[in-house]
Amino acid sequence: MKHVLSILDFTKEDAARILQRAVRMKAEKHRSELLAGKNVVLIFEKSSTRTRISFEVGVRQLGGQSLLMTPAESQLGRNEPLKDTARVLSRYADGLVVRTFGQDVLETLVEYGSIPVINALTDRYHPCQVMSDVLTMYERTPKLENVRVAWIGDGNNMAHSFINAAARFPFSLILACPEGYRPDSEILEHARSEGANIKLTDDPREAAAGANYINTDVWASMGQEQEQKQREAAFAGYCVNRELMELAAPDCRFLHCLPAHRGEEVTEEVFEGSASVVFDQAENRLYMQKAIMEWVFV
Ligand code: CP
Ligand code: NVA
Repeated sequence: MKHVLSILDFTKEDAARILQRAVRMKAEKHRSELLAGKNVVLIFEKSSTRTRISFEVGVRQLGGQSLLMTPAESQLGRNEPLKDTARVLSRYADGLVVRTFGQDVLETLVEYGSIPVINALTDRYHPCQVMSDVLTMYERTPKLENVRVAWIGDGNNMAHSFINAAARFPFSLILACPEGYRPDSEILEHARSEGANIKLTDDPREAAAGANYINTDVWASMGQEQEQKQREAAFAGYCVNRELMELAAPDCRFLHCLPAHRGEEVTEEVFEGSASVVFDQAENRLYMQKAIMEWVFV
């Protein structure tokens, strides 16, 4: 049985194949009966617009049904043990798509359940988003080996998934993160040990220089709202603005997984400017997730 807890669950060959399937699915406005008669439960312990709706629509376009489960309206919010929830849901449903806090939640669902689990964002990773961001880059610059990606901001779940993606796709990655907000060194070292070309700096200008894609994310992720003020101070100078974009390659595009905080990690001008491809990124979630579900369920 296949699970997607992180991008490292794909081999390089899987990742390349999934990318090509997503390209094809987008081109042909793919519909199928792959999930006919199947029910996918979406467990969402955090808010979501894009991930939840694109998974729900994607499941339907593959002929299946989805059901949403939130802590407020289930026994999850009353501390029923996760290992019990895993076994119960495995008796009704055919797959779980899960947005939660700890990566250990997914690991427990895998250990005690008997149906595939797909990570829809944890504090550690956001694999479906970054796979779809690879699609957004690939559509514009198919020679990924010539692509330089800059990550400017928090060494968070998105940064971690970009690091994993650099171990599966041939782009080079440079991350500019302030001290105290660097990505997990184990994740970084693991990707490097698999051949990923990744640099780390604390200088956003160094990261932006010559980049083909400049990528950022909110400074305080879901669950870190109480750190907002302290993070605003730590990330001063990390706002993606016109000056940083001008250091990049001439055709540089701006990426953001959304939702964005204009005036913090990115200026209104860059967000709304001609280099911004953020809504193409959002659209691509749908195709990439269908391709990922096909990999999981076939
Ligand atoms: N990018 C992303 O995952 O958005 P949502 O939080 O709206 O799902
Ligand atoms: N890093 C952000 C991504 C939101 C899609 C968060 O975890 O809140």
